[in-house]
Amino acid sequence: MNEELQQKASPWKRRFLILCVLTIALPAFIGMVMLRRFGSDVAVDYASPVEHFKYGSTGGEHEMGFPYWIWRALPEVCPQYLPGKGYQSLGMVYEKNPDGSDRDVPVGTSMRRFQGIDRVFVNCAACHVSTVRTAADKPATIVLGMPAATFNMKGFEEFFFRCAADPKFSKEYILPEIERQGGDLDLLDRYVVYPIAIAIMRDRVLALAGRFDWVFKQREWGPGRVDTFNSAKVIFNFPMSHLDPKEFDAPADFPSIWRQRQRKEPKEMQLHWDGNNTTVEERNKSAAFGTGTTPPTIDLARIRRVEDWIMDAQPPAFSDFFAIDRSIAAQGAPIYQKYCADCHGVSGSDFTGKYVGTVEPLARIGTDRRRLDSYTYTLAVNQATLYAGYPWRFTHFQKTHGYANMPLDGLWLRAPYLHNGSVPSLRDLLEPAAKRPKTFYRGYDLYDPVKVGFVSNVAAADGKKFFRLDTSVPGNGNGGHEGKAYGTELSPAEKTALVEFLKTF
Ligand code: HEC
Ligand code: HEC
Repeated sequence: MNEELQQKASPWKRRFLILCVLTIALPAFIGMVMLRRFGSDVAVDYASPVEHFKYGSTGGEHEMGFPYWIWRALPEVCPQYLPGKGYQSLGMVYEKNPDGSDRDVPVGTSMRRFQGIDRVFVNCAACHVSTVRTAADKPATIVLGMPAATFNMKGFEEFFFRCAADPKFSKEYILPEIERQGGDLDLLDRYVVYPIAIAIMRDRVLALAGRFDWVFKQREWGPGRVDTFNSAKVIFNFPMSHLDPKEFDAPADFPSIWRQRQRKEPKEMQLHWDGNNTTVEERNKSAAFGTGTTPPTIDLARIRRVEDWIMDAQPPAFSDFFAIDRSIAAQGAPIYQKYCADCHGVSGSDFTGKYVGTVEPLARIGTDRRRLDSYTYTLAVNQATLYAGYPWRFTHFQKTHGYANMPLDGLWLRAPYLHNGSVPSLRDLLEPAAKRPKTFYRGYDLYDPVKVGFVSNVAAADGKKFFRLDTSVPGNGNGGHEGKAYGTELSPAEKTALVEFLKTF
């Protein structure tokens, strides 16, 4: 009897077990595999703060990240929208692998595995790192924290907008290119993940292109510049076509971001070109928007590492690259002390000075007003709503009426000069506006140690075409910062001495 029962029960038992496996265990197992694969949110981290600055995440990959292999494939899929080969042609900086080839992603991009796919997006270093060369046939030195003088931001945005609108932005063209480059996608990636990712990315970039179509209507910024606060207006969904045209065409030079501590201690300076914010941390979070982050996606812990590092990061000395004539520089020191030190501070004394970190009214400084006018009261009010409900809600943005008197640390690497980068060299800045170059080229990393600035009279080199900046174009005006107080009336010998002294900063 027992045996009989057992014989009857056991097939049922087996069936029950199979059913359990099919309905519970197997889905749970698949679920776990999927979760492991698609539920991940892991940024690639670097122990060294320097590597973190170059390649670490600020959180932008969450919303904006390009799937790694799509990022790699696009320059080959849409070469017609790039000025040359690869992202290099947009002036992005690549480090070398030990075998001499370029690293797979440029300085200023970070990676994160999110929702089952490796994603790439830009970080702070995209706009705050560049290269400098002492001779045309010498290798470039990568300098962290200097303005990204070769990076063409507008070209970068337009490349993705145009490529996404191109019929070739499809799995039929992108997948074979990924394969050609050695992207060894597994079956799930090839048939499910990447085809979906391509479709999603295309939709997202096109939607963004629709919002940013204002960018296409702007005059070229050229390398090293971005229209900072008009870009911010787009993020706030301002009705761009209804704004006062005088707010537009406001390209701003990328600034250097080393030595932030002196901008915070002993007193907080008014910073950004127009001095619209006084706190370093808020500026950093605001800057993080430039890296695609939003209040829910910002990676505060990792941004904190960048903040900590730029506090005391130092610019490289001019004298590590070129000679300085110390006796001539010594003649320049008292001239600087007399004319410039109150507004710009003195090197060696942490750049303190009576007016350093305050705003010089436009009526007195007289430089191009577009950047100032682009930052409006309405925008300031909108920024004050950012991070509402968080302890780090923005509270320090304000509308100002001039440009900030800033420390001149690492000055030699900050060319071209003024907030719109409209004056190619220090020597040119000491001339009255009428005698400054009316047009010049931006984007070359070859340095001119005599005029103190990048070589700006060459239209092309190394297969790269440079950007011709025309100072008569709105937003590019090279006037202002002139008159006795600004050194433009000094004798030629005094100017030479002053420039030599400025090399020591
Ligand atoms: C898209 C390019 C871009 C990216 C990316 C970017 N910045 Fe900037 N940054 C700028 C520009 C342009 C300004 C000057 C803004 C202005 O006043 O018009 C600036 C200004 C700053 C300043 C103020 C400098 C001064 O002396 O006034 C700091 C500090 C800064 N950025 C830090 C960062 C940090 C930290 C990140 C990353 C979280 C970052 N930036 C990402 C372009 C960028
Ligand atoms: C009354 C204050 C004041 C005085 C005096 C002054 N400057 Fe300036 N300087 C400014 C302001 C404000 C700016 C920013 C203007 C802009 O970008 O539109 C500036 C910008 C600069 C820049 C460009 C910095 C950059 O990163 O592009 C340099 C270089 C400079 N000044 C050098 C000097 C020298 C040298 C002297 C003395 C001969 C001098 N300044 C005197 C206020 C002053």
